[in-house]
Amino acid sequence: MNIKPFKLERYFARYEFSARYLLSSSDCDGLLQSDLVKMADDETRFLWDNLALGYTESLGHPMLRQEISKLYHGISADDCQTIVPEEGIYIALNSILQKGDHVICTFPGYQSLYEIAESLGCEVTKWEPEEENGWRFNPDFLEQNIKTKTKLVVVNFPHNPTGYLPSKEDFQKILDLARKNDLYLFSDEMYRFLEYSKDDRLPSACEVYDKAISLFGMSKTFGMAGARIGWLITKDKRLYSRMATFKDYTTICSNAPGEILSIIALRAKEEIIAGHLTRIDRNLGLLDSFFDEFEDRFEWIKPKAGTIGFPRIKGGINAFDFCQQVVNEANIMLLPSTVYDYDDRHLRLGFGRENMPEALQKLCEYLRK
Ligand SMILES: Cc1ncc(COP(=O)(O)O)c(C=O)c1O
Repeated sequence: MNIKPFKLERYFARYEFSARYLLSSSDCDGLLQSDLVKMADDETRFLWDNLALGYTESLGHPMLRQEISKLYHGISADDCQTIVPEEGIYIALNSILQKGDHVICTFPGYQSLYEIAESLGCEVTKWEPEEENGWRFNPDFLEQNIKTKTKLVVVNFPHNPTGYLPSKEDFQKILDLARKNDLYLFSDEMYRFLEYSKDDRLPSACEVYDKAISLFGMSKTFGMAGARIGWLITKDKRLYSRMATFKDYTTICSNAPGEILSIIALRAKEEIIAGHLTRIDRNLGLLDSFFDEFEDRFEWIKPKAGTIGFPRIKGGINAFDFCQQVVNEANIMLLPSTVYDYDDRHLRLGFGRENMPEALQKLCEYLRK
């Protein structure tokens, strides 16, 4: 396999643990394990206290799969298998695709969503959003680009990096096109349940289409990226078993502490997610003021969900140079759109973290200078 370096991960590796302020992280604040364990009920407290650090069940702890299935309508524990989220993309795409297949993937995006297909020798059409229409991914583009050898459509809503969420009508059109053309639909839903208005929440693709595979996990919405727990869900039994077989060559099974911590968190989901949404709301308010003050320097399309947004820098300034300057002179990490291989005009901003106000204040002071 000949795969290109993951540009975003390489950029993070350089600054994530050295820059004083992070203003582009995509996850919510990491929960404290001690706080989380306090949320355990008697049953999960017992599991945690008596946890043996041996191998776990390959498809995932039965209680975990049970809790996961409760997040969905019409999904049973037998439709779910646990993975590490990034691993889930690798497993699903390898289980679906063969050299020569055609794939259509939302772009810009999380690199593995299209890179894995390219590395397998597939032809990938990148489906770009219309910035002038609030980052809309127009289903007409999808319709016009489906060919006889198209096998898979990959979408990611809420979208990394723009925070875009399609209307229910547009999402339905995507499902209809997949169904009409008998295509697999890989739906990366890593930021689900972080919709600012509940009414905007889309159905999970796996609930409404039999050839869909939904990816979700604890990393973003729950602030538990370090648990390394995610899951794939599909009603397609053949694909389900191909993916499960593939996992024997990646991680075999999930990590034992992460599984139990995830069961605890899923049982306390309302409280945990509400806490993250409150922080996101506060931080988005600060961003409103920030973009008012610097409207001559940035164009901001406010996201509808998630923890990240993708403002454009005005005035012909290169995003990469700007981010380098800001990290070198003000110790604030921002992410340039070049790591998405997109253009050199956008930044990814993250607003899921508790110390975001302080980081934003520092950026304000730097820009005022
Ligand atoms: C859209 C999307 N999918 C998948 C992942 C992978 O999640 P994890 O880092 O928890 O493996 C990420 C992480 O940033 C992401 O943004």
